[in-house]
Amino acid sequence: MSRRSIVAANWKMHKVRAEASSFCQTMRTDLGAPAAEVLLFPSFPLLDTVVATLGDAAVAVGGQDVHGEAAGAHTGDVSVAQLLDAGCRWVVCGHSERRANHDETSAQVGAKAKIAAAHGLLPLVCVGETGDQRSAGETEKVLAEQLAGLLDAGPERFELAYEPVWAIGTGLTATPEMAQATQAWLRAELGRQLAARGHAQTAEATRILYGGSVKPHNAGELIAASDIDGFLVGGASLDVASFLAIIAACES
Ligand code: PGA
Repeated sequence: MSRRSIVAANWKMHKVRAEASSFCQTMRTDLGAPAAEVLLFPSFPLLDTVVATLGDAAVAVGGQDVHGEAAGAHTGDVSVAQLLDAGCRWVVCGHSERRANHDETSAQVGAKAKIAAAHGLLPLVCVGETGDQRSAGETEKVLAEQLAGLLDAGPERFELAYEPVWAIGTGLTATPEMAQATQAWLRAELGRQLAARGHAQTAEATRILYGGSVKPHNAGELIAASDIDGFLVGGASLDVASFLAIIAACES
């Protein structure tokens, strides 16, 4: 099945408005009409600037997180309505930095994806094992548990990003063979879990991105793998030329 690739920039806690604006102006002039769906996930205070500067460029904007409840007394959190109001169409749920630094459980990640999808915000849900878990042979168990937490919440729609934690920000990219093998297994497991719950979404139609030290020089060989449907890019997405080069690598 052919799935349209997604190339997503995860800026994490980087950039101030002037830097974001300059990046987005270049995207607007240089991006053209990419074959891939291009997404940009800036920090919350940058959303207005990014949305306004991108204008009609072929880039959709998303939040890096959302609260699992629609509203309430949650100091420091952001609601799905606020993201939509700011012009977001996507949201990242369950990035490993949030699972590790904020103790987010897979059930909480599922709740976030559920409320996002229910309001028309597309969740990009991150899953991935740590280096210790891979060494201990627990990769499949960890991924299956993360998927179960997501699917138990029953989000209407979602896309996935497989991000091995040991490859994030380390320069240690998974080889195309390793990423393909894990993502093919993940798609099969997703199919089993969706079927068991009678979910309408199919594993074949679900985009599974790869993330973890994706750079212009390795994007081409990774995107050639049949179960890699694009990238979630951290460090290399901060520089507009390098992000554009990764998008270009997904063109053919
Ligand atoms: P990286 O980050 O590209 O810097 O490894 C990826 C991510 O955390 O999404």
